[in-house]
Amino acid sequence: MDFRDFDMAALAPAETYKLLSGAILPRPIALVTTCSAEGAANAAPFSFFGVLGHDPATVALGIEKRPDGRRKDTARNILETGAFILHIPDVALAAAVERMAAPEAPGVDEIALAGLETRPGRHVACPRIAAAPVALECRFVSQVDLGTARDILLGEVLGISIRADAVDDRHRVDAGRIDALARLGGPHFATVRDRFTL
Ligand SMILES: Cc1cc2nc3c(=O)[nH]c(=O)nc-3n(C[C@H](O)[C@H](O)[C@H](O)COP(=O)(O)O)c2cc1C
Repeated sequence: MDFRDFDMAALAPAETYKLLSGAILPRPIALVTTCSAEGAANAAPFSFFGVLGHDPATVALGIEKRPDGRRKDTARNILETGAFILHIPDVALAAAVERMAAPEAPGVDEIALAGLETRPGRHVACPRIAAAPVALECRFVSQVDLGTARDILLGEVLGISIRADAVDDRHRVDAGRIDALARLGGPHFATVRDRFTL
C-alpha cells in the first residue's frame, strides 16, 4: 500500500490545516454562544473541538485568530466573562450554523440573524439556543499556550441539557434523535445516520 508522507515542519500552516480538516473525520460541531462583557449575545460554530474528560466534565475549543491577528468574538468573550454554552447542532440547524459562521462585527447578535429562539442558561449567563438538541453550559477553566494561531480554551461542563425525547431515565442518549451535524473538509458536512452496532 502506498502512502504520501507529510512532515509538519515542511508544510505551510494552510497546508497542515487542509490535511487535518480533511482527514480527521467526521468532526462534531460545537455551536458556542457567549456574551460580551457588555452583555451582547454572540454565536459561532467550531469543529476544532473535543470532549477531553468526564470527571470533571471537560471540553476544549481551538479558536483560530482572525487573519489580522485579532481574537474571534467567541474567544474574547469566554476569556472576558468565563462562560459559554456549547450546543450540538442537529442537521435541521445546518443552514443556521453556516449563517452563524459569517464574521459579524462585535456586538452583532448572530443568533437573532439566524432567526433562532433562545432561553436563559441555568448555570451561566449566556443565551441557550432552544432548537439545539444538546446544550452544555460551561465555565472557562484554562487556556493552553500552543502558539499564536489559535486560542485553545478548556471549559468545565456545569450542566447538560438534552431534549427529552433523546435521553432516557438511565442517561442513555439516542443518536438517531440527536441527528448531529458533522463537519468534513472544506465546505462539506455529514450526518451520523448510517450506524452499526458491535
Ligand atoms: C461548521 C463550521 C466549523 C468551524 N470551525 C471552526 C473552528 O474550529 N475554529 C475556528 O476558529 N473557526 C471555525 N469556524 C469559523 C467560525 O465559525 C467563524 O470564524 C466565526 O465567524 C467566528 O465567530 P465569532 O467571531 O463570533 O467568534 C467554523 C465554521 C463552520 C461553518
